[in-house]
Order: sequence, then structure tokens, then C-alpha cells
Amino acid sequence: MKKLTAIAFASGLTIASMQAMAADASAGKNLYEQSCASCHGMKAQGQGMFPKLAGQSAERITTALTHYKNGDQAALKEMEGNLGGSNYAIMAPNAAGLSEADIENLGAYISSL
Ligand code: HEC
Repeated sequence: MKKLTAIAFASGLTIASMQAMAADASAGKNLYEQSCASCHGMKAQGQGMFPKLAGQSAERITTALTHYKNGDQAALKEMEGNLGGSNYAIMAPNAAGLSEADIENLGAYISSL
């Protein structure tokens, strides 16, 4: 019995640490709706000068957000899709306050749309 408890405890810990590492798409949804939807649209469909985000990979979203957060306009210019130009200054402040976890959560949510 003691042995079983020890195994259950050890595997419980593993599951908990895996969950801590995984991005939280529902937290990403809340943040997206509060801070991003006004420009990019409720379904991330884009509108006018605001790029469509739906259909993009989590990797592309997290990479772009990290560049905006770091103010790395040159790296954005190197990405496909004409980023980092005259509309850069409209987007950059929205990423400035994001944590790494926020960026991961946003990537998980937006890439699911
Ligand atoms: C005030 C309007 C506005 C808000 C709010 C806004 N964005 Fe943006 N976003 C833009 C504009 C404009 C661009 C294009 C910037 C450029 O050309 O570099 C952009 C670009 C992006 C890109 C790159 C698109 C691509 O093609 O890969 C991502 C990702 C992105 N925004 C995510 C977000 C997220 C996530 C939020 C919320 C935290 C957010 N944006 C909030 C206006 C906005």
C-alpha cells in the first residue's frame, strides 16, 4: 500500500509539472478578447490594416509577439507578410506588457481559431 501511494504521488507530480509547462488556451482566450479583439476581430479574422491571425501557427504568433515585445522591428521585417513597416507602432505597445506565459497562451488560443 505504501508503495502504491508513493507511485501515485510521483506520477501526480509529473502530471502537475506537465500542466504547468503547457500553454493555457483558455487564459489566452480571455486575454485575446480583452486586449486584441478590438483590432484583430473577435474571431481573429482581421480587418483593414489589422492582419488576420486565424489560421496562423502558434509558432508564428509567439515569434511575432516576442519581436514586438522586444521592439525588434528588423526581425519583423524579415518575417513573411510585410510586418514591421509603418503599422509597427500600432501593434508594438500591445505586446510590450505581455509575459512569456501570456505569449504562449495567446499562441495556443489564436492558433486554434
Ligand atoms: C490597436 C490595434 C491592435 C491591437 C489592440 C492589437 N494589434 Fe496586433 N497588430 C496590429 C497591427 C496594425 C499589426 C500589423 C503591424 C505591422 O505591420 O508590423 C498587428 C500585427 C500582429 C501580429 C503579426 C501578424 C502576422 O501576420 O503574423 C500578431 C501575431 C498580433 N498582431 C497579435 C496581437 C495580439 C495577440 C494582440 C493582443 C495582445 C494584438 N495583436 C493587439 C494592431 C493591433
